[in-house]
Amino acid sequence: MLRAALTATGRYFPTRVVPNSYFYDDLGLETNEEWIRSRTGVITRHFADAAAGETTSGMCVRAAQQCLERAGIDADQLDGVIVATITPDQALPSTACFVQEALGAKGAWAFDLVAACSGYVYALAQATSMVRTGLAKRVMVIGAETMTSILDFEDRNTCIIFGDGAGATLVEAKETGGLEIVDFRMHSAGSGADLLMIPAGGATHPASAETIDARMHYVKQDGRAVFKHAVTRISQVIVELLEGHGMTASDVDLVVPHQANIRIIEACGRRLKIPMDQIAVTVHQWANTTAATIPTTLDWALEEGRINPGDNVVLATFGAGFTWGSALLKA
Ligand code: UT7
Repeated sequence: MLRAALTATGRYFPTRVVPNSYFYDDLGLETNEEWIRSRTGVITRHFADAAAGETTSGMCVRAAQQCLERAGIDADQLDGVIVATITPDQALPSTACFVQEALGAKGAWAFDLVAACSGYVYALAQATSMVRTGLAKRVMVIGAETMTSILDFEDRNTCIIFGDGAGATLVEAKETGGLEIVDFRMHSAGSGADLLMIPAGGATHPASAETIDARMHYVKQDGRAVFKHAVTRISQVIVELLEGHGMTASDVDLVVPHQANIRIIEACGRRLKIPMDQIAVTVHQWANTTAATIPTTLDWALEEGRINPGDNVVLATFGAGFTWGSALLKA
């Protein structure tokens, strides 16, 4: 098996920054600053403007270009592009194909991966397997969302927690350097499907005047139920991963968790006895960008000097499906 390493990162957030007051002052929703901050941790989020090229693929391209620049390689050296997203530019073709073309990654295959908030961890596992077995040498793994395209701005329980953005990471076969991608644990439970979903727009309920009138193309969630599952599953899957390597939480230098809600992150920290200063948090500035939270937060943590040589870094996530998973990286 070859060694797979995460060698560079990049991110892009739309230029429009939206404060919490947008929901109560501009939209007139029955909510307030105190509730949003204390119940979610979110202070601002970014909203994409498609007219300014801030589509899901457009944000992917900008994040990937930054990543390639930092890696010092050209797009035509990529063997593959994976985009984890639940908000593709179109249903067909994949967003990854638009990204491949716009980057000029002429030799690369490209596909999208759908695992909601777990999409990036799943995609990283996919790329890692391909790199380790020699099927690919360099894969661009991106998590990107235009959540505003599927938010119901009349649903105060849902629209306040999400944002748009993209994070890109390069996975390469490298004998030394980068963050070594050590291992993964991944799970799913379709029994949770009804608790977090978009009812229409697929083959079961294709778009029709009725589905639009019934607001069936927006994200629906039972926030409280999802919250409880998220805390339990994220904590469990971190322990499972660490135990597989004879490690405990005290061996972890930094956790980069999915940024759904600060209270989920804090509850996991308490359960695992990992102090908050060893957990990367960006939810207050970027909110929940679904598949983009982990690669953007990882990029931010690297930029902030939060990852040092020898560090054990754990990625952990939970999302619709349900899906959940963790990854162990070694700096
Ligand atoms: O990325 C993975 C996908 N999603 C998640 O991980 C989401 C996980 N869930 C959450 O983050 C939280 O459950 C929410 C932020 C969605 C909601 O927070 P909560 O503390 O679980 O609130 P709740 O749903 O239990 O509602 C508590 C109260 C309710 O009022 P009553 O019934 O107690 O009178 C809600 O109607 O808060 C009310 N409420 C609000 N009040 C002001 C719900 N949303 C709002 C709001 N502003 N925006």
